Amino acid sequence: MIIKGAYILKNYSSEPQKLDIKISKGKIVKINENISENDDEIYYFNNKLITPGLVNTHAHVAMSIFRGVAEDLSFNEWLFKKIEPLESRLNKDIVYWATLLSLMEMASNGIVAFCDMYMFENSVAKAASEFGIKAVLTRGLVDVDGKGKERLKENLDLIENWHGYQDRIYIGLGPHAPYSCSSNYLKEIANLSKNSDLIITMHLFENFWEKEKYNLKEILDTGIADNHLLAVHCVHLDNNDLKLLSEHNIFVSHNPSSNLKLGNGIAPVLKMLNYNIPVSFGTDGPASNNSQNVLFEARLSTLLNKKDKPQNMKIDEVLKMLTFNGYKALKLDGGEIKEGKSADLTVFDLNNPSFFPQQNMKKHLIHSTPKVYATMVNGEFIYLDGKFPTIDSEEVYKQFTNSYKKVLGIEN
Ligand code: NI
Repeated sequence: MIIKGAYILKNYSSEPQKLDIKISKGKIVKINENISENDDEIYYFNNKLITPGLVNTHAHVAMSIFRGVAEDLSFNEWLFKKIEPLESRLNKDIVYWATLLSLMEMASNGIVAFCDMYMFENSVAKAASEFGIKAVLTRGLVDVDGKGKERLKENLDLIENWHGYQDRIYIGLGPHAPYSCSSNYLKEIANLSKNSDLIITMHLFENFWEKEKYNLKEILDTGIADNHLLAVHCVHLDNNDLKLLSEHNIFVSHNPSSNLKLGNGIAPVLKMLNYNIPVSFGTDGPASNNSQNVLFEARLSTLLNKKDKPQNMKIDEVLKMLTFNGYKALKLDGGEIKEGKSADLTVFDLNNPSFFPQQNMKKHLIHSTPKVYATMVNGEFIYLDGKFPTIDSEEVYKQFTNSYKKVLGIEN
């Protein structure tokens, strides 16, 4: 496949250049000014800007089924009173259709890869494998209710069945949070991570009461950050905590919409960046955000962090968080458009008022409202010009709506 005529932003620190890209077997094999070779498939992408694919480092994708169900509630009311009782009505089919809907939403927002933590994760893996997106999936691990062992067993089965599938689906370990996992359970998970070289992702200090009840050093002493920890939220951390994070192999997923919407506050992103902690963006689940668009998260975070000093959060830094840091956080190779790398690309439509003046196109990616034209993963389009070439989207809408009615107990 050859893509011709587009502007290419090779990486977060480069400037867009008009270049052609040749893709073979899922990889970028050539980038040049004018590739004159013949190919069966040639795409003429004039008036398009191609960037490295965007990454969503934290989601619970199947929670699209709860979008709009629990609004204007405190975190505790939202999670423990509203969402958890409804979660008991989920099954593998509902999670499958709810996941496909979320994958459509993410692909239409330019997302090529995501990290998930939830239940019925086998259905998430099946949906992701069919859809064509890249994913790091984890079974949410909780042991305070005495069901820790069976959840861990589900996670081990996922590894057995999916880890490395088609160079796209990977499995990690997902201890839910310090308040839902005992320290012995965390130690067991940490050992598994070290022995099998799997990433761990965990919600960490999302709420102010976690900071009051738990000690970060004690949590890290379980070994969970010895191999690779993708820590989610990290809102309530002081300077000592941040220093401690920077001394471990820790990547942070910053989810500003969810943190604001649930009244949990604003994460100290600027301090994290000063400590050289690699920060990436996550949407969190669609029941607490409620959209799956990392470009929106990037813009929101940028504006929040500029409020006192506009020199903060420069374009290159934010693009790095959206692309390069996202790949690092998921332990995937990518985040730049380069020969030998996977063809994971986000294509923007420059023929859009928000992209003018086109001379400043790179800046519009963060500060304007760019429109995604296509999304490609390992050389295959998962979104192209308003369509989803790998699935039957009408069927997804229909099955999703039926599933929603089942969960909420709505007749017809
Ligand atoms: Ni979450």
